[in-house]
Amino acid sequence: MYEEAHQSLLIWYHQNGRHDLPWRTTDNPYHIYLSEIMLQQTQVKTVLERYYFQFLEKFPTYKDVAQSDIDDILKAWEGLGYYTRARNLHNAARQCNGKLPTTAHDLMQLSGIGRSTAHAIAAFAYREPLPILDANVKRILHRYFALSERNEKKLWEYAYQLFDSTHPFEYNQAMMDLGSLVCTHKQPLCDNCPLENSCQGKSTPLLYPEPKTKQTKPIRYRSIIIYQRDKQYALTQRTNRFLSGLWGFYETSENVTGDFLGSITQHYSHFTLDAKVYLSSDPFEDEFFDWFSLEEITTLSLSRADYKVVEFITKIS
Ligand code: ADE
Repeated sequence: MYEEAHQSLLIWYHQNGRHDLPWRTTDNPYHIYLSEIMLQQTQVKTVLERYYFQFLEKFPTYKDVAQSDIDDILKAWEGLGYYTRARNLHNAARQCNGKLPTTAHDLMQLSGIGRSTAHAIAAFAYREPLPILDANVKRILHRYFALSERNEKKLWEYAYQLFDSTHPFEYNQAMMDLGSLVCTHKQPLCDNCPLENSCQGKSTPLLYPEPKTKQTKPIRYRSIIIYQRDKQYALTQRTNRFLSGLWGFYETSENVTGDFLGSITQHYSHFTLDAKVYLSSDPFEDEFFDWFSLEEITTLSLSRADYKVVEFITKIS
């Protein structure tokens, strides 16, 4: 039923696909898995230029990940955001002793590997005939089948329906490229689309899926205090879920005293942090902190917001 669509998609992929991406020219499951995790919330360009090769340089094998300290993994992940991904990568490596399972079913048992990611790894590394369902593929399916309603379970059924099980690798990679190059969020290029003949949403692509009512992100107003003693600064390693494992300066929603140095803003997925930064000399609870020189701070893993705070220290010291 979808032979023409499959054929047309394959040809389009051969002509337009991003074939030289390093995770497409390898069948090393660890490399493929790492790329999938990094690419979940980060653009290809950033992953390619700053993280993928650098991570593999530090942790050449999955066994190296299993045997490493979480602090070293977080340091390699620094700046990439969504640090739960790094903690899951580390947990998963320990769960399977640094040897990745060879089926999607078993991959899915590991920390942080959901169904779509398991299918991606299995299809790319082992050619297991399974469709993926990431954000790009979801958008294509919504439009192709003219589905307004957002319903993950139904989308999986459509994902299997359109899937080309004879070319699991090419089909899935092609769908990802189609979603990022042609069937884009705002201005889809329907006239250049290999699926245009059979796409049911072609005349009104922006109706599928139904647009979300825009929710404005809440702003969290906070104060950050840089406690300084001699040439050392107080930091604490976060244990709460958000940014867990990263080091940071003291942050509070209470009013504080100290010398006001300036403000920082940091956008996260669910809120925006708007913090005033102060310098002070006497921490309220000394045992809460460890003390580091500016040089030592750069060896820790810090969030982007905390790096912005470090810049204030650089200016005053
Ligand atoms: N995003 C997630 N997986 C990808 C892949 N294999 N190639 C390009 N972008 C991706």
